[in-house]
Amino acid sequence: MIILAIESSCDETACAVVEMAQGRRRILSNTVYSQIATHALYGGVVPEIASRAHIDAVSRVVGEAVKVAGIALSDIDAVGVTYAPGLIGSLLVGVSFAKSLASSLGVPLIPVDHIKGHTAAAYFTSDSLEAPFLALVVSGGHTSLYGVDTPTGFTELGATRDDAAGEAFDKVGRIMGLPYPGGAAMDRLAAKGFDGGKDHGSVKFPSPAIADETLDFSFSGLKTFALNMINTERQKAGLSDKDDLPEDFRETVAAGFTRAVTDGITSKLEEAVRRTGYRKIVLAGGVAANTHLRRAVAATVSRLGAELFVPPISLCGDNGAMIGAQAYYEYLAGVRANDYLNAYASDESAAAARRDGTDGIYTV
Ligand code: KG4
Ligand code: ZN
Repeated sequence: MIILAIESSCDETACAVVEMAQGRRRILSNTVYSQIATHALYGGVVPEIASRAHIDAVSRVVGEAVKVAGIALSDIDAVGVTYAPGLIGSLLVGVSFAKSLASSLGVPLIPVDHIKGHTAAAYFTSDSLEAPFLALVVSGGHTSLYGVDTPTGFTELGATRDDAAGEAFDKVGRIMGLPYPGGAAMDRLAAKGFDGGKDHGSVKFPSPAIADETLDFSFSGLKTFALNMINTERQKAGLSDKDDLPEDFRETVAAGFTRAVTDGITSKLEEAVRRTGYRKIVLAGGVAANTHLRRAVAATVSRLGAELFVPPISLCGDNGAMIGAQAYYEYLAGVRANDYLNAYASDESAAAARRDGTDGIYTV
C-alpha cells in the first residue's frame, strides 16, 4: 500500500511517500525541510517560531514529496502523521494538515508515535526485519530501551530519568561554542580527540548508566561534570564566555564525554540483551547518527552474537519515511484516527487521553 506520512514534531517539516507490503518496503520520496538555520540564531529551538515555520513549509513539503514520488494523489491509500510526543504547536500543524488531506482523499488517517517512528526507520535496512526485537532509541528527547514484541507493542525496559543524550550533547557543544545543534559537531571533535588518545587522560567522566538494578540512565551528572570542567578551564585561562577554548581542550572534553556516553549506553544495552534474550537489536533516533555510538553498539551487539539493524544516517534524524513505515504497521493493527485526533507533548499526556477515550484514536 502507498502511505503519505507527515512529521512535524520539532524543527523539521517532513513528508514522505512509502510503499509498504509484507517483506517489501520502499521509500518513493522523503522530503525534509530543516529549520536549523533559523533556530541556530537563538542557540536552540524556539517553539513559537518552529510552529510558524511549519505552517509556511507544510504544503510545499507535501507537494514536493508527492511530485518526487511520481504518484497521483489518488494513489495514496492512507495518510500517516506524528501526533506525539513533541512540541505541541509544531505537532498540531502536521496533525491538522494530515486530517484535512485524509478527509479530502477519503482515506484512513493513521496516528503515529514519534518514538515508534524512529524505530521503524530500521525496517528500511532489511526487508526481513520483523518484531520481536530490542530497540535502543537515542534522540534529542529520549534515551530509552524498549522490548518490541509486535510492531506496535512497545514495552519500556529502561529510560533516562532526566536529560536525554542528544540534549546533553547539544548543551555541552553549545557551552564550548560549537555550532547548533552541537551533536554533529561534538561527533567530529570527539573523533579528533580519540585519534589523539585524549579519552584516556586523567579525567574520569561520570557514567550515565545508573549503578542499580534498573536499565535506566541519567545524563544530568555527566552534563554538569562537563560544564564545570569547561567553566574551570575558562577561569584558569582567563577566558570569557565569548572567547574560543583551546582546540586541544575541546577535543579532550568531546572525546571523554562521548566515551562516557557510549560506554554507559552499551553497558545497559548489554544488560538488557542478557536479561531479555532478544536476538535482534535496533539502534534509532537522531543520536544514532553518532559515529562513535554506532561503532560501540555494533561491537557490543556482535560480541553478544546478536544482529544489529541501524538506519542509514539520512533516516536517523526526524523524517517522514520512518513515520510512514510505522503507520503501515499501525494500519495493519487496525489503528485509525478520526477528526478529533489531537496532538500531545508527552507520552504520558497521550496515554492519559487514550485512557479517557478523548484522543480520536480507535481500532477497527
Ligand atoms: O531524533 P532527533 O532528530 O529529534 C528528536 O526526536 O529529538 O534527534 C536530534 C538530536 C539532537 O540533539 C542532535 O544534536 C542529535 O540528535 N544528533 C547527534 C548527532 N546527529 C544528531 N548527536 C550526536 N552525534 C551526532 N552525529
Ligand atoms: Zn526525533
